[in-house]
Amino acid sequence: MVAGNWKMNKTLQEGVALATELKQSVKNPKCAVVIGTPFIHLATVAEIIKGTPICLAAENCADKASGAYTGEVSAAMVASTGAQYCILGHSERRAYYHETYDILREKVLLALENGLKPIFCIGEVKEEREAGKQNEVVKAQLEGSVFNLSAEQWADITLAYEPVWAIGTGLTATPEQAQEMHAYIRSLIAEKYGEQIANDTTILYGGSCNAKNAAELFANPDVDGGLIGGASLKAPDFCTIIEARG
Ligand code: PGA
Repeated sequence: MVAGNWKMNKTLQEGVALATELKQSVKNPKCAVVIGTPFIHLATVAEIIKGTPICLAAENCADKASGAYTGEVSAAMVASTGAQYCILGHSERRAYYHETYDILREKVLLALENGLKPIFCIGEVKEEREAGKQNEVVKAQLEGSVFNLSAEQWADITLAYEPVWAIGTGLTATPEQAQEMHAYIRSLIAEKYGEQIANDTTILYGGSCNAKNAAELFANPDVDGGLIGGASLKAPDFCTIIEARG
């Protein structure tokens, strides 16, 4: 899979232009292609990409089902736009909007209950990597928010390993660092759900993945694709990354 995360970029009109460009250029991708857009773009973009191989993701959903939560957008509302995926647990949501393991566990369950497939992000910050704690951090994030799921629920989960020090910084993890962590994550899934399910789980890499370095990152056996921020905002770059997944 190659998934784009537009973050808080693009007005509705700019988003329509980008989705239209992608619709014209993404013809026969050899991997799943997802674009993650701001909430307000979802319904419109869903119409634009209808009948194409491109799938749609929200970048978040509420941790409550419905009711008096001014400004929030529920998983049911996201699903009603035609989106199939929901990015959850992004490090920016954890850091700036204080999303805890418990909040994320609720969001994942609500997404699943409403037929959305979570793209669940995990990853350590720079200080944790420097202290050699990256494995412990990632394990706690999985145990805190998604290892409560049944094997059946797990089938709808995509993981994205995004070392926080690599996001938007131009500091990509080396292919070796990515492979090492992805293999570790897969081993945790195997311990919890068994080898078969672990092998079937899609684990994306995210963090300054771009048109130049994608092929090298995706060449690793445990790197199943990418979650792309900055480079997903330009159709030609995003298309090169999709081709790199091959
Ligand atoms: P980036 O962001 O590609 O701009 O580093 C990735 C992400 O945060 O998903």
